[in-house]
Amino acid sequence: MKFISEFDINIRAKAALILVSTPEESRLMNEIEAYAANTERDLIGWDICAGFVSLRGKTAPAGGRDPLSALDQIEKAPDDRAALYVLHDFDAFWENPTVKRKLRVLSRTLRQTRKSIVLTGVTDELPVELAADAVRICYELPDAFEINAEIDRLKLQPGSALRLSETGRERIVRAALGLTAAQARHVFAKAIAASGALSDSDIASVSEEKKKILREVEALEYSDANETIRDVGGLDVLKEWLNSREKAFGADASAYGLPTPKGIALLGIPGTGKSLTAKMIGHHWQLPLIRLDVGALFGSLVGESESRVRRALKIAERIAPCVLWIDELEKALAHGGSDSGTSARVFGSILTWMQEKKSDVFVVATANDIAALPPELLRRGRFDEIFFLDLPTRSERREIFAVHLEKRRRLPESFDLDRLAGASAGFVGSELEQAVIDAMYAGFNDGQREFTTDDILAALRRQVPLSVSRREAIQRLRNWLKEGRAQSASVPAPDEDEAA
Ligand SMILES: Nc1ncnc2c1ncn2[C@@H]1O[C@H](COP(=O)(O)OP(=O)(O)OP(=O)(O)O)[C@@H](O)[C@H]1O
Ligand SMILES: [Mg+2]
Repeated sequence: MKFISEFDINIRAKAALILVSTPEESRLMNEIEAYAANTERDLIGWDICAGFVSLRGKTAPAGGRDPLSALDQIEKAPDDRAALYVLHDFDAFWENPTVKRKLRVLSRTLRQTRKSIVLTGVTDELPVELAADAVRICYELPDAFEINAEIDRLKLQPGSALRLSETGRERIVRAALGLTAAQARHVFAKAIAASGALSDSDIASVSEEKKKILREVEALEYSDANETIRDVGGLDVLKEWLNSREKAFGADASAYGLPTPKGIALLGIPGTGKSLTAKMIGHHWQLPLIRLDVGALFGSLVGESESRVRRALKIAERIAPCVLWIDELEKALAHGGSDSGTSARVFGSILTWMQEKKSDVFVVATANDIAALPPELLRRGRFDEIFFLDLPTRSERREIFAVHLEKRRRLPESFDLDRLAGASAGFVGSELEQAVIDAMYAGFNDGQREFTTDDILAALRRQVPLSVSRREAIQRLRNWLKEGRAQSASVPAPDEDEAA
């Protein structure tokens, strides 16, 4: 539902306390001012610096720079006309028990009046004491239509111009989705300042600016990955699944009645290509790939991280269709115990969102510490599929060697791939890659001669694979797979020679 219709319904239902969380105070105030004008309500703003300010209709109560006396003033103000009192950044006072109590009382007494209080703030935290009495309305980021309107509203100085083709305009709007209106305006203004015009050639710089903003402000990282499906060796079951879902985001799929895919979890042994696969999916499906930095989500303020994760998920929904990569999911839980349940709640927000989401955000969650993951995460229905990435089979190792030789501009045919695959049981993809690199150094340092199969074999012998050095941990992971809790990402090789 559009914000203003939800707001209207609540006001008409005599909600006395409405919380709107948004970093976009001015855009929100424009909407509320228009609403007050359309419904002939008085509108009074308040913040800690200016006290009360009349925005429409009646004169503002005097003074009241202190939050508690401001609430007193609202209580005492005459009830001759319908009025909205918008109190800014009131979440700054959540530590104050008197303020909370007063709000709670007002939430009941004001219901008999024509006065309503709107609280705005950046976080969407609401003290438990108020949870039952206040209504929380979500203020969404601007959609494509609204970003378009921002372009129309740009104030062009003499000598600067808009030079966007029709498709250029569509693409620049898309590039700005996920930003607030003010951020989008600023990004457009920067492009105009740089070249005197906003034109099709600014699409790239707008999307660069967005990446920068999301990284700095929101713990979201745009990934410019260009890994293709050919850069991933083996994992045929997983690849086939991805191919079968490739068209799932299109209009055809939804017309057919297919549900939008929710996402997949990639679990398993370190170095087997979980992160690599996540990066490849975005590129393979030609969707933007955004990485949610779980570690960076944990801010210093209590409760802040929950707001942040909700905001990050909202941004992903605006950018949709996209792939949201939640890397090292178990890190969300590593904080457990020490922070009074914050990480559990952050984790909970992600799970609830995944359960309920209707948007075209495909989640790829990766983790290698399965023991740390709560069982509810892996419940059916949360993900479309849970894949386990095991030690690569012999034929997979052969493919992985070929991938990494080709990546270094060598012909795989000039190497004895069968011997390499045979000699590397128990090695994971990252270790095979390392062996190729070590062999290259050996050749390079030996008078820059071309490196050979034997160099790679020697490098393999020098390395102790994780499956040996951390045998118990790896074995635990593999047993977990055998218990059937996940689908193997690879085609099984029954006559395998795995020693691990
Ligand atoms: N199946 C594979 N095919 C090709 N390369 C691979 C494969 N698996 C791993 N690699 C190589 O190893 C590197 C590291 O792999 P990646 O980061 O994807 O491992 P991971 O499973 O995410 O490990 P971790 O659990 O430690 O995060 C990749 O960048 C890639 O070069
Ligand atoms: Mg990884």
